[in-house]
Amino acid sequence: MATRTPFVAGNWKMNGNRSLVEQFSNALNSESFNGVEVVVCPPVGYLSMFAAQTFRLGAQDVSHLDNGAHTGDVSTDMLSELGAEYVIVGHSERREDHNESDLNVAAKARKTLNAGLTPIICVGESLSVREAGDVNEFVGKQLGALVGEFSPAELAKCVIAYEPIWAIGTGKTASPEQAQDVHQFIRGYLRDVDAEMADKLRILYGGSVKADNAAELFAQPDIDGGLIGGASLKTEDFIAICQAAI
Ligand code: 13P
Repeated sequence: MATRTPFVAGNWKMNGNRSLVEQFSNALNSESFNGVEVVVCPPVGYLSMFAAQTFRLGAQDVSHLDNGAHTGDVSTDMLSELGAEYVIVGHSERREDHNESDLNVAAKARKTLNAGLTPIICVGESLSVREAGDVNEFVGKQLGALVGEFSPAELAKCVIAYEPIWAIGTGKTASPEQAQDVHQFIRGYLRDVDAEMADKLRILYGGSVKADNAAELFAQPDIDGGLIGGASLKTEDFIAICQAAI
C-alpha cells in the first residue's frame, strides 16, 4: 500500500483581511509540520500578501477558460503568478451559489492540472441524499465525471475532498466511522479504475473538523487529512489540526 503524505488545507471562504494574513504568515512560519503538506486557501486577492515558507498557498476556485474577455474570472496563469500551487474546485458552496455541474467541475480540474497546479476536488452529499440512503450512488456519480475526464496517472496527482454538505459549518461532524465508510467507498471506486492510482491519491475529509476531533478522523485508514473551513481562521486551531495529521 502506498504511503500517502498527510495533507491539511484551510479554506478561508469569503473571510479574512490583511491583518489575518499577517497573523497567519507569522504563526505558521514559526511552526514545523513534520512532513504534513499544509495549504492555506485565502480569498484570491490576499494570495500575494502571504509570506509562505512552511506552508503552501491555494485558491478557492478558478476559471476553466484561458485569459481573455471573461469579466470577473481568474485564470490558472494568474493564480500561479500570485503564488498558488493548489486550487479547490467543486466546493459545494460553488456548486450551489454558481450552479456548477459535475462537468464544470471536471473542466476546472482539467485546467488546473494542465497548468501544473494541484486540484483539490470536492465531492459530498446533502442531508436528503444521506437520509435516502443514496450516498454512494451520489458520490459515485460525482467521481464518474472525474474518471471520464482524467487518466489514472492524472487522477493520482489530484486530491479529493469528501465534504458532506450537512456537516459543513454546522458543527455536525461526520463520525470517524461515517467518514471512513465514504472514504473507503471512494478509494474502492477508484481502485476499480486503477489500483495504483487509488493507493496514491489523497482523500481529505471536510465538515466541522476542529482541533478536538481532527486526530480521530485522521486516524482512519482512508482519511489522509482535512479540508478545514471555520477552524482554519484561527491560527492556534489550524496549527493544532495540522499537527493532528502528523
Ligand atoms: P467547516 O470546517 O466550517 O465545516 O467547512 C468545511 C469546508 O467547507 C471546507 O471547505
